This record gives sequence, structure tokens and C-alpha cells, in this order.
Amino acid sequence: MKVTKAIIPAAGLGTRVLPASKAVPKEMLNIVDKPAIQYLVEECAAAGITDILIITNRGKGVIEDHFDYSFELEENLKKNPAKKAIYDEVHAVADKANIFYVRQKETKGLGHAILTAEAFVGNEPFAILYGDDVIINNEKPVIGQLIDAFNKYGKCVTGVKECPTEQVMKYCTLDVTALGDDTYQVHKIIEKPERDQIISNFSILGRNVVTPDVFDLIRQTPPNEKTGEVYFSEAISTLAERGNLLAVDFDGKRYDMGDKLGIMQANCEIALDHPEIGEGFREYIKELAKTL
Ligand code: UTP
Repeated sequence: MKVTKAIIPAAGLGTRVLPASKAVPKEMLNIVDKPAIQYLVEECAAAGITDILIITNRGKGVIEDHFDYSFELEENLKKNPAKKAIYDEVHAVADKANIFYVRQKETKGLGHAILTAEAFVGNEPFAILYGDDVIINNEKPVIGQLIDAFNKYGKCVTGVKECPTEQVMKYCTLDVTALGDDTYQVHKIIEKPERDQIISNFSILGRNVVTPDVFDLIRQTPPNEKTGEVYFSEAISTLAERGNLLAVDFDGKRYDMGDKLGIMQANCEIALDHPEIGEGFREYIKELAKTL
């Protein structure tokens, strides 16, 4: 079955990037000239996804406004022929996909957030893109790489990358067997491993393609005793234990928009490639580097 639906959870509190995320969801923080979530919507559209559910809580209004026509602004831009290109760009934002919204009424973790998408998903396989993980590949969108593996093998797929040991200890380690084409069968996942528990340096980062049976797995996951949050990683672990999870070592550059350093890396690197300001920014960085 073709994957045409995606969900983007964007209802976290974003405490690591406060106070920037106090009144604006971190998913709306800027990378050069677009909010982070627009990069995700564009990635979905480039991979053939037509329907996207954004899971929000606070700041729902700004996300809705961003993916809508903006009559007054657009009429104003239209009057000025010199602003034609910017008008086209602004207008097109609203037409990238059919976008729906649901609220996660309490911030009870990613697993809990994903449950709010059940009615939207119905009986179809669907993609999940974590709202604060921007992953750039301008040739082949990363979610498309995962969908290809899903279509080829008929199993759920998670996106992974080899990470430095310190990061693996914060995320997770995977026991895998290679199947070819950067695709692996996942046998086991250990969350937040100690150094001597690390099996591989593959960690799960921000993208999944799954089937609706994950909803039952999430429902069977008790809230974490310390945080009260329902972790999605436990449902993913169960998929692995049942032999129904593949990992794709995706080709793309990932930026963590839930982290201050990640936000600056995204802005710097994407600015360097930007058609309008790339050259000027490169000169600026070179000059700045001389003073460091
Ligand atoms: P994070 O793990 O980064 O959680 O969420 P967070 O609460 O936003 O971040 P910190 O640790 O307080 O800084 C990963 C993704 O899942 C969403 C977030 O919006 C983010 O895109 N999420 C998380 C939800 O939608 N609901 C939740 O209850 C938790």
C-alpha cells in the first residue's frame, strides 16, 4: 500500500531551547528564512506524501497561519512586480500538502502524542517525522528512503545514523544484521545504554514508517515511572523483538532543532548553501573565522 500520510508531532515543551520556545513552538523556530517545520512538510511532499497531520498543543495558531494563505500580505506583494518571486514562494507554502491538526491535550510523551493520530491514519501505513529533527537531502528526501525500504521488504522502518559514543549513550544502541542497500534487520534496541552495553553505534533519529498496529503497542506501554511520559521507543523496541523492524542508514544531514547548538548548526550550514545569501554569508564566516 502506498504511503501517502505522515504525522509530525510538534507538541513537546521544548525545554532545552527556552526561552525561544516559550510562546513559539520550537518547530516554528527559523532556519534562515523558513521555520523548521516547513522543511519537514517539503520533505514529505517531495516523497509523495499528500496528507500531513501536525500534532500541536500551544502555538497551534502560528503553525496554522503559516500553512494558510495570507490574504492581506499576498495582496500587498502582488501589487509590486519586484516582489513576484517572494509572492509565489509565500503563496505556495499553503499548497504543499493537505495539512490537518490535532491537539495533544496533555504533554505526556511522544508515544502519547502519536496516539492522537489514530483516526487520521485509519488502516494505512504512515510516516512519522519528529517535529524538531530537520534532515536535509535535496536529491532524495530521507522519508522517501525509508518508504522505499518499507515497500521493498514490507516491514516497519526506522531511520538510523552512526553516532558518536557519547550520543549513543543518550539515545540508544541497535543490534542489527545487514540486508544490503544501507538497510538492516533490527533484533534488539537498548535505550540509553551504558558504555559496555553498546552493540553498534547506530541510533534512531527522527524518522519512521510504521503500520497502524503500533497504536496497540503504544497503548500497552505503561507511562515511565519517573517522568509519567509514554515513550514511543518502547513500541519500536517491541516491533524489533517481533522481527518487524528494519533500520535504514539514511543519506542526509540531520539538525536537532530541539537543541541550541543544533539550531545554530542548521542556520550556518543551510545559509552557506542558500542561493540568495550563501556567497555573502561564506565571506562573512571566513572573516569571522580569522578572529577566532
Ligand atoms: P523531545 O523528546 O525533544 O521532547 O520530542 P520535548 O519535550 O519537546 O523537548 P525538551 O526535552 O523539553 O527540550 C521529540 C518530538 O516529539 C514531540 C516534540 O514536539 C518533538 O517534535 N513531542 C514530545 C510531542 O509532540 N508530545 C510530547 O508529549 C513530547
